[in-house]
Order: sequence, then structure tokens, then C-alpha cells
Amino acid sequence: MAINNDNDCNEIFDEVIKSRRSTRFFKDEFPSKENIEDILNAGMLAPYAAQAVGNNEDFRRFFVFKNGGKSIEIAGDLMHKKAQEGLDHFKKMIVEKPFLKGKVQSFMDKLQMIVDNGVLGVGTAPYFVIVAELRGVPPVEQESIAHCLENMWLKATELGLGFGLVSLTSQMAEDEEFLKLLDIPKGKYALNGCAIGYPSKQIPTTTRPDTKKSTKWLN
Ligand SMILES: Cc1cc2nc3c(=O)[nH]c(=O)nc-3n(C[C@H](O)[C@H](O)[C@H](O)COP(=O)(O)O)c2cc1C
Repeated sequence: MAINNDNDCNEIFDEVIKSRRSTRFFKDEFPSKENIEDILNAGMLAPYAAQAVGNNEDFRRFFVFKNGGKSIEIAGDLMHKKAQEGLDHFKKMIVEKPFLKGKVQSFMDKLQMIVDNGVLGVGTAPYFVIVAELRGVPPVEQESIAHCLENMWLKATELGLGFGLVSLTSQMAEDEEFLKLLDIPKGKYALNGCAIGYPSKQIPTTTRPDTKKSTKWLN
């Protein structure tokens, strides 16, 4: 079906793009399963690196964790452990190479926050969703996942749901216990994740630099 290019459609689309924000705090109320399925369908429709993964039906998979279940508790614990390992690694690194401190400090602060408070979005939102993308050559799976997550994010926004990225998920792609939980083999997929639910407060639209000032047109 061709899309309708009328003005109403255009305005609604612009409104969804402008309304998309990162949600980090959620109500306890669960969105409907249909809403989550619609969001996953939007993700499945996002581009994937066909040339990199070849003719493979299994190029993208979704794992939906519901808050309160055993699986999300295990995932949260393993991710917390991963953040602690990362923090220890960076602490050791800056003792050996102090000149790197400035570069890694803000990431270390983020890891410290996870170590202190748990993973934001895993156990603090009704749903934690993992996207797994088949690895290929060249290795562009994280780019494909980003396209997928953006489609999901816009669909969630259209449905009045909040959405937040949980980037630490990407670090779990080699973790044997985590992969056992997902029941996928090591090395086959790249991972990333997001939290979905009703936002606990409405987040206003954001401001961005003036696109005109950031754009150079070339002959
Ligand atoms: C590659 C990437 C990774 C991100 N990872 C996280 C994350 O792990 N946790 C988080 O709360 N936000 C994460 N964000 C969201 C950004 O912080 C957010 O998009 C930015 O602050 C702008 O705010 P907005 O999304 O509300 O417009 C990530 C964004 C990008 C592009």
C-alpha cells in the first residue's frame, strides 16, 4: 500500500518525532500485550543489513521480559554483575594509565550508578525488551539494532508509551549465563535493549541545535 502523503499524515508523523523522549521512570501499570506486539512489529519492519547476513529468516529476534518474573530478576542480576566487572576494569586501567581518566570518567560514573542502584529499566519498567541481531560481515549489527529500536521507539511514542534505551544490554552478548537465559548460542547475535511502559510523568518535547546552522550544502 502506498502511503498517503496528505498534510494530516505529515503533521502527525512530525508530532510523533518531536514527542519522542527518553523515559527513565515508569508507572507500575502494564501496557497491553497488543501494544507490545505492535511495537515489536514496528521493529521488525526496520531495515536490516541484508547483504551482511545473507538470506536468513532469523536475522532479528526479540526477547520480552515482564517485570516481576523470574527471568527479569536473573537478567538484572547478571547485568548488575557486568557493570561491576566493567567498573573494576576501568578502575584498574586508570591506575595503570592515569592519563585516560578524563576520557573514561563519565562512563565510570554511569557504571557506578548501576552498581549502586541497579540497571535502570530492568526491573524498574513493566517491560524490558532485548533485540538480537544476527552477526554478519561486515559487522554492522549494532547499526541494524539502532534502526530497529528507533522504529520501536516511535511506535511506542505514538501509542502514548514511554521508552528508554538500556545500552548495557550490548555488553551481555558474550555472557554465557545470559545467553543461556535467552537460549541463543554464543557469537551468533549482537544484543541491545530497551525499557517500555507508561511514563510516570510526561516529558516535554526537547530542544536541539538549529539544523540550518549544523548543515552545509555542497555543490
Ligand atoms: C547510542 C545511545 C545509547 C544510549 N544509551 C542510554 C542508556 O543506556 N540509558 C539511558 O537512560 N539513555 C540512553 N540513551 C539516551 C540518551 O541519553 C538520550 O537520547 C539523550 O539524552 C537525548 O534525550 P531524548 O532521548 O529524551 O531526546 C542512549 C542514546 C543513544 C543514542
